[in-house]
Amino acid sequence: MSKDEFQVYPLIDKKKHGEKLTSAEIKWFIQRYTQQLIPDYQMSAMLMAMFIRGMDTAETAALTDAMLESGERLRFPGRNVIDKHSTGGVGDKASFVLAPIASAAGVRVPMIAGRGLGHTGGTVDKIEAISGFRTKLSLTEFSAKLQSEGLVLIGQTPEIAPADRLLYALRDVTATIDSIPLITASIMSKKLAEGANGIVFDIKCGTGAFMRTPKAARSLAKSLIATAGRFKKKAVALVTDMNQPLGNEVGHSNELIESLETLKGRGPADLTELSLHLAAHMIHLAGVEKTFPKALAKAQEMVSSGKALAEFRNLLRSQGGDVRVVDDYSLLPLASERTVIAAPGPGYIKMFDNTLIGLLLIDLGGGRRSKADAIDHGVGFTFHKKIGDRVTRGEPILTVIHHAHQKEVVKAIKTRFLKEALTLSQTKVKPPKLILDQLR
Ligand code: URA
Repeated sequence: MSKDEFQVYPLIDKKKHGEKLTSAEIKWFIQRYTQQLIPDYQMSAMLMAMFIRGMDTAETAALTDAMLESGERLRFPGRNVIDKHSTGGVGDKASFVLAPIASAAGVRVPMIAGRGLGHTGGTVDKIEAISGFRTKLSLTEFSAKLQSEGLVLIGQTPEIAPADRLLYALRDVTATIDSIPLITASIMSKKLAEGANGIVFDIKCGTGAFMRTPKAARSLAKSLIATAGRFKKKAVALVTDMNQPLGNEVGHSNELIESLETLKGRGPADLTELSLHLAAHMIHLAGVEKTFPKALAKAQEMVSSGKALAEFRNLLRSQGGDVRVVDDYSLLPLASERTVIAAPGPGYIKMFDNTLIGLLLIDLGGGRRSKADAIDHGVGFTFHKKIGDRVTRGEPILTVIHHAHQKEVVKAIKTRFLKEALTLSQTKVKPPKLILDQLR
């Protein structure tokens, strides 16, 4: 392809008028942008045109391919190399439970996870609460550990889909994040680069998710599955509720403790159910079990036999984390103060503004306002109630885990939680379904 095969302005204009871009045009545009030969202002205009006009499956696949080709691509032989991707939520710690379950069952899990983004928490930030755990491995070490251990968990590396990192930062400040084709290409370019042969998607939907409605979540699920299919990858997507935190804990150390409790068979019902289902889909896609019911039984057995917990210990050992944490939670950083937020009156829990809950955690120091911010792993929230639960006046809904010097922040959190994040109803409320849909 010659350097000036295309020109920037006419391509932006073409997309602006709703015409389809060819694969060659998309690849040229992304390649030139990644080489910094197209300035951010022209890329921003193109992103907005793509956002408003949309892109069909062929254009989305071309964009995915272009972003994938911007970096290195790992390839692992074997049907049993399967990853899971969640579109992000509040209290979503399922990776810590499902990855060891799937690995214990014979699935090889190459997990390149994210950090907190906006109001959502990040798997990599959470596991870093464990002293010594290395989330930065070279791709050579990543590949070697997948072969030797069967489970490896690291953060994004500069070699994987560098175009996505540039584009994501631009989308973040140009109001072009919540576009199905752009999200699809962003997720798929990274997943394809990390070498998994099958992917289980957890598409979150609700007040704490990027996709607010089941309809939008289903569209994203269909787009991800179609794109995975074009790249000959097996995929399953679950659409799951994110109108309230998953499990009861929101934070870092406290979420890890809840995950360990779930691996010990004592976790909350929703986290247990979702982790088992996602792990079972991984086991099924990997071909370890021929039917989904058998895969689900296998996942359950991995927990009851203690094999999944042993796998988690092995993950810590393999990546330098303090293995003693599994049996001694006091080794995790946890703030010493507790403030209970109680129901202002009787009623049924109708709704949580889950995005606001994620933002309140950032106010407490458990998230970043800017890229350079450090995370306080020791703060968080423990929820005592779920949507549909009946409460009496003064009954605890939430406990804030904080430091002694944070009294003023906690006061502000309490006011905002009660005024803006919580809705009580005087009539009975039906608890939301956890798994809303399954697509393949
Ligand atoms: N997660 C990603 O990796 N990319 C997006 O665009 C949105 C969520």
